[in-house]
Amino acid sequence: MKKGKKLYEGKAKVIFATDNKDFVIQHFKDDATAFNNQKKAKIEGKGVLNNRISEHILMNLNQVGIKNHLVKRLNMREQLIKHVEIIPIEFIVRNIATGSLTKRLGIEDGTILEDPLIEYCLKNDELGDPLISKEHIYTFKWATKKEIEKIDKQLVRINDFMVGMFRGVGIKLVDFKVEFGRIKNNGKTDVLLADEISPDTCRLWDNKTDKKLDKDRFRNNLGNLINAYQEVAKRLGILHEQSNIQTVNFEKPKAVKNKK
Ligand code: TMP
Ligand code: ASP
Repeated sequence: MKKGKKLYEGKAKVIFATDNKDFVIQHFKDDATAFNNQKKAKIEGKGVLNNRISEHILMNLNQVGIKNHLVKRLNMREQLIKHVEIIPIEFIVRNIATGSLTKRLGIEDGTILEDPLIEYCLKNDELGDPLISKEHIYTFKWATKKEIEKIDKQLVRINDFMVGMFRGVGIKLVDFKVEFGRIKNNGKTDVLLADEISPDTCRLWDNKTDKKLDKDRFRNNLGNLINAYQEVAKRLGILHEQSNIQTVNFEKPKAVKNKK
């Protein structure tokens, strides 16, 4: 499949057209942003790690019947994905209270939630991705009741699967954000898990020490973000324990070349 023109550039990824309108190429950048673009940096190697980690998670979700947009990884930074119309909602699932939940409601950081908590935010950087209710979603027609009911069920399954997957490698899945898109399926419109699932979009704490292995290292100036993402990749079996891959290796132009 041929790579075409740039269709969309987000904060951490770029979407390119292909010669088939049903498929696009998702390119992972090294850019890191937080607090809706107020804090920015380039972290060499982040895009490569997120590409690999997201591929791993989405492939595993597919294997347990949670369909998603991933077709295949193309190279170090790119994936072929199904072309969907992104629903303008960020779906957040929380197992442990931290981040904006604790600030917003005064809940103690680290409180274990009895059941997963689902939150919806409007995907709008200028407004700071505000928290919205289902009533807002239906009133302003950002998604239909049927779509949200379907997505809610999938969120619970995604969470169950990922909690187990990460627990198996000594990591607590504290919370995560996912996005869904609309896709035409035999003339009918269906919802499909899209975007990425990576340490940029999850909070991951080491089981024993609560060490943060996610983008909070950047948000909160904790440093060593790449080491943390590599640790996640190693534990998931994506990078081998003995392969002392340095960030710079990820950037070698040869490895990054697009296979067409
Ligand atoms: P929050 O506590 O800042 O609301 O974040 C909840 C989860 O969602 C956390 O895993 C980080 C993730 N997230 C994103 O992936 N993108 C975003 O824009 C925001 C605000 C959070
Ligand atoms: N993704 C958002 C941003 O880029 C917020 C975050 O992840 O903290 O600003």
